[in-house]
Amino acid sequence: MEPRARASSLLLCLMLSLFSVDIVSAQQRFGINYGQIADNLPDPTQVVRLLRSMNVNKVKLYDADSKVLTSFANTGVEFIISVGNENLQTMATTPGAARQWVSQHVQPFIPATRISCVIVGNEVLGNNDNGMAASLVPAMQAIYDALVDLGLSRQVTVSSAHSVNVLASSFPPSSGVFQEGLAQYIKPLLEFHSKTGSPFLINAYPFFAYKGSPGSVSLPYVLFEPNAGVVDPKTNLSYDNMLYAQIDAVYAAMKAMGHTDIGVRVSETGWPSKGDEDEVGATVQNAAAYNGNLMQRIAMNQGTPLKPEVPIDVFVFALFNENMKPGPASERNYGLFYPNGSPVYAINAGTGAGSGPGAGSGSVGRFDPYSSQMFSAASKLAVRTTSLTLLLVLPILSAFSC
Ligand SMILES: *[C@@H]1O[C@H](CO)[C@@H](O)[C@H](O)[C@H]1NC(C)=O
Repeated sequence: MEPRARASSLLLCLMLSLFSVDIVSAQQRFGINYGQIADNLPDPTQVVRLLRSMNVNKVKLYDADSKVLTSFANTGVEFIISVGNENLQTMATTPGAARQWVSQHVQPFIPATRISCVIVGNEVLGNNDNGMAASLVPAMQAIYDALVDLGLSRQVTVSSAHSVNVLASSFPPSSGVFQEGLAQYIKPLLEFHSKTGSPFLINAYPFFAYKGSPGSVSLPYVLFEPNAGVVDPKTNLSYDNMLYAQIDAVYAAMKAMGHTDIGVRVSETGWPSKGDEDEVGATVQNAAAYNGNLMQRIAMNQGTPLKPEVPIDVFVFALFNENMKPGPASERNYGLFYPNGSPVYAINAGTGAGSGPGAGSGSVGRFDPYSSQMFSAASKLAVRTTSLTLLLVLPILSAFSC
């Protein structure tokens, strides 16, 4: 090989491996919520194939479904599993209950199935159920103690997922504060996160804000489409999308309670492809734009304006449309896929292509979930990934494992 050609191929290799670090870590920061409130979903073994075809490596469950955990053994897919709200009181008050739960729902599946985090309770705070709210941190602590006892606390972290409604104010982001009435629960919660090194998780849906006031909330702003953005007058930081503003509002709220040592991650976000008459914005085009643009931002390793060095990390809601979810029609139409495995819409998750209204919808054509890939550039490069790359990526993973 000519020296020049060799130099340029070396350079190419270097660029490829740098790129694959980005892509591989980007994949590790894109997860999907596998909800199962439906009577028509495919068998978990088929879901393994579907997720493989999409190159998705992180899955969140709302329970600890043993069939799913078993089906994903030796796939490398990382799981976040959940303790349901109905179990919190027992976990908090019955000695041995948490240990029993961990021995039954975590221990038997690892290490064949990777379980990185247990989420204790979903949207418990701000529910007006004070008994449940009071059980939250004691239940988290009990699960954590059980993991310690069983020698699993280094590989499995403990968190809980919260609605952004735990905030009394979220805009401008620097004004973010928790609801005053929740302080008694939030304070020990933040101490728990601080002590155990686990992140604060939020379920954030800019769709709700848009649906609530379509006249005053800018659609490009909520869909990550090009827009002038909004400046936070206190920090002078400019926000071009609502999700980042919501994340930074949580950082501000934690800071107001004395904590700058806890990460914020998005345990749920998404956009419905269909809704009732009065659900403005619930369309296929908007859902494709929201999820496609979000994936592009993840692939770019983007952080929020307040934390540009901390790439955003999200679990999209949801894998499938779930036909038995109660509530408005939108609730049953958040899926990226129909239960038969066909995509509800095409997603352009490629880099750099998104601009202009409607970007992200259809520019890569409809993809076949069983043969093409959501992260198509990624998957080819990931194959070339060397163990060196993995070594570079792993410390990032272990720093934050929910
Ligand atoms: C924000 O910008 C204004 C005007 O440029 C400036 O006076 C102010 O000091 C800035 N504030 C911060 C926090 O940077």
